[in-house]
Amino acid sequence: MASSIIISPAVVEVTTTSIMMIMLFSLANAISSPSSSTDEAEALRSTGWWNSTSAHCDWDGVYCNEAGRVTQIVLYGSEKELGELSKLEFSSFPSLVELYLRDCGLNGTIPHQIGTLTQLTYLSLSRNNLTGELPLSLANLTQLEYLFLYSNRLHGSIPPEIGKMKNLINFFLSDNNLTGVIPSSFGNLTNLIYLYLDTNQISGFIPPQIGKMKNLVSLELSYNGLHGPIPPEIGKLKNLELLELSYNGLHGTIPPEIGKLKNLESLELFYNGLHGPIPPEIGKLKNLNILNLGYNNLIGVIPSSFGNLTNLTSLTLGGNQMSGFIPSEIGKMKNMIFLNLGYNSLAGVIPSSFGNLTNLISLILRGNQINGFIPPEIGYILDLLYLDLSTNQISGFIPEEILNLKKLGHLDISNNLISGRIPSELGNLKEAKYFNLSHNNLSGTIPPSISNNMWTLFDLSHNQLEGQSTAPLEAFNHNKGLCDGIKGLSHCKKRHQIILIIVISLSTTLLLLVAVLGFLFRKQKIRKNQLAKTTKVKNGDMFSIWDYDGVIAYQDIIQATEDFDIKYCIGTGGYGSVYRAQLPSGKVVALKKLHGWEREDPTYLKSFENEVQMLSRIQHRNIMKLHGFCLHNRCMFLVYKYMEKGSLYCMLRDEVEAVELDWIKRVNVVKGIANALSYMHHDSTLPIIHRDISSNNILLDSKLEAFVADFGTARLLDPDSSNQTLLAGTYGYIAPGKLYYNLH
Ligand SMILES: *[C@@H]1O[C@H](CO)[C@@H](O)[C@H](O)[C@H]1NC(C)=O
Ligand SMILES: *[C@@H]1O[C@H](CO)[C@@H](O)[C@H](O)[C@H]1NC(C)=O
Ligand SMILES: *[C@@H]1O[C@H](CO)[C@@H](O)[C@H](O)[C@H]1NC(C)=O
Ligand SMILES: *[C@@H]1O[C@H](CO)[C@@H](O)[C@H](O)[C@H]1NC(C)=O
Repeated sequence: MASSIIISPAVVEVTTTSIMMIMLFSLANAISSPSSSTDEAEALRSTGWWNSTSAHCDWDGVYCNEAGRVTQIVLYGSEKELGELSKLEFSSFPSLVELYLRDCGLNGTIPHQIGTLTQLTYLSLSRNNLTGELPLSLANLTQLEYLFLYSNRLHGSIPPEIGKMKNLINFFLSDNNLTGVIPSSFGNLTNLIYLYLDTNQISGFIPPQIGKMKNLVSLELSYNGLHGPIPPEIGKLKNLELLELSYNGLHGTIPPEIGKLKNLESLELFYNGLHGPIPPEIGKLKNLNILNLGYNNLIGVIPSSFGNLTNLTSLTLGGNQMSGFIPSEIGKMKNMIFLNLGYNSLAGVIPSSFGNLTNLISLILRGNQINGFIPPEIGYILDLLYLDLSTNQISGFIPEEILNLKKLGHLDISNNLISGRIPSELGNLKEAKYFNLSHNNLSGTIPPSISNNMWTLFDLSHNQLEGQSTAPLEAFNHNKGLCDGIKGLSHCKKRHQIILIIVISLSTTLLLLVAVLGFLFRKQKIRKNQLAKTTKVKNGDMFSIWDYDGVIAYQDIIQATEDFDIKYCIGTGGYGSVYRAQLPSGKVVALKKLHGWEREDPTYLKSFENEVQMLSRIQHRNIMKLHGFCLHNRCMFLVYKYMEKGSLYCMLRDEVEAVELDWIKRVNVVKGIANALSYMHHDSTLPIIHRDISSNNILLDSKLEAFVADFGTARLLDPDSSNQTLLAGTYGYIAPGKLYYNLH
């Protein structure tokens, strides 16, 4: 019995090999002969992607029709290393309708034989390492409705022949190295609903023919090298809900025709060279959720028609040359969460109607010419976490009502003309992290609530406060976490020099936060639409939260963990608990979830958001892979690749495991970390500094490959501001040694 069990697989293997060889010969001899079901079985077997001995129609991810012909091949999962895509002999599958090989470790080029799959309606090769150019033969797949090739390393230009794929509904080429222009033939893709070409190096103009894509719902062209104007024809895309053209070199004015896009929910044009005034027609976009026109050269006033944008949750006009008053109509935007009008030339007072913006979390008016008082109505904005009114001409007192803002973590009213006393309880705000009141005319004594406060960085310098010199660094005496009682400044200075190098412009941070938010809305939206339109992948994995072309996620996760039952918990970190979940597809993932009380804490929330923000920017084989996330009041978790071996720290502490991790493996671990750090510091678009590298944050997979994890405190390094002071929020916690390490 026992021997037959051992022998039979070997026999099978031998037979397989011989059949395979015979097959190869016959294929070579009769390449044009129509393939059969046996051909298909052999073509599948010869990939080496399966080693089951049963009938091929029963294999994982292989689906056949009644005639026994293969119609779907569906494989996914980051543990897979399928190698060259060309191992699949495309010509053997004339009935193939769906080819779904996402996140399978595929490499090599997309073979031109792909053009022989003429029945194909769904093609996903996303999240692999495919290189080379898009084959021209792709255009022969005229039945294709869904084409997902995002997150690969494809280069070259998009062939104009793509315009022949008239049935295309979804077209995702994001996150590759594509160059060239957007072909005008795209205008013929009139069935297209989603067009995603962002994060490439595509240049040239946006072709006016884009206006012919009448069904387009999402147009995402951010992070490219597009220039020229935004074509007015864009106003013809009546179904458009998302228009993202940020981070390009677009010039000219914003066409008023954008006001015709009645369904628009997200309009992001930031970081371009757009000039001229904001067309008031934008105020007609009643469904608008996110409006980001920041960091352009826009002039003129904020149109009062903006008061109609009552669904807006995020408005960024920061970093332009806008002038005039802040229209009080802004107070009508009741759903506003992020409002950034900083770095413009706005004048007049802060309208008291701001008190109606009770959902506001962040308000930035920094760097304008605003005068008048801080309206006491600000005390109604109970959720406010971040308030920056600095560098204006604001006068009057600090209103006592500011003490209502129990969640306030960041308050900057520095560099104004504010006088009077500091409200005595200001130092008792529990969430206060950074309060800058410097460069004003404040008088009176420093309240004990502030001098006894150990956890907030207070800068009170350059005021007329009693017992206080005007030396700016005196302010740090009140920050016990930073220079712990040291009066002599030399020590502090030295430390600052190290710190100086890590500079974060706060507006950037906020911008990113807004970007995360936008991202979330967008992804949710896409998911919603996808759920309705794609029902093909059964028991799909949960990556739809993150990816564009997956299905079902949330439900699977809740089921797999029995709604985060403690028995699936495998550890607790600095914040949040980590769960192991096996999804219906068999895939195992790790979930990090915030505890109830942690969700109330903006620091934890911020770490979570920060982690999402960072990990969604970077992809590297030695950096923890974030599969998805859900950041919503009711579901607050991140989904990661599962790391079988846990953290390096635990491994080194365990006597048995520490032996398993011999020197060669340790060198590998170090190499892995070095690669990740080098990537973060030098190869990512904006350098990223982790700031908390420790053996706790290095995780190991089953092959003992190292992954840098936990980006909760990581920051982007803005190369333009490298000679300013650090402002990173966690002053007392950054060990100088760590900083040093992080910088080298
Ligand atoms: C092949 O079979 C072995 C055991 O027989 C199994 O461990 C392995 O995972 C299989 N490989 C694939 C690609 O299915
Ligand atoms: C597309 O199909 C046509 C007709 O079958 C064929 O002649 C042509 O070579 C194919 N084009 C490419 C680029 O494969
Ligand atoms: C669109 O299709 C028409 C007819 O099929 C063709 O004549 C035209 O050249 C195509 N347009 C572009 C811009 O490719
Ligand atoms: C406080 O604000 C002033 C003026 O805006 C700035 O110069 C100073 O560096 C800030 N203090 C800290 C500790 O960030």
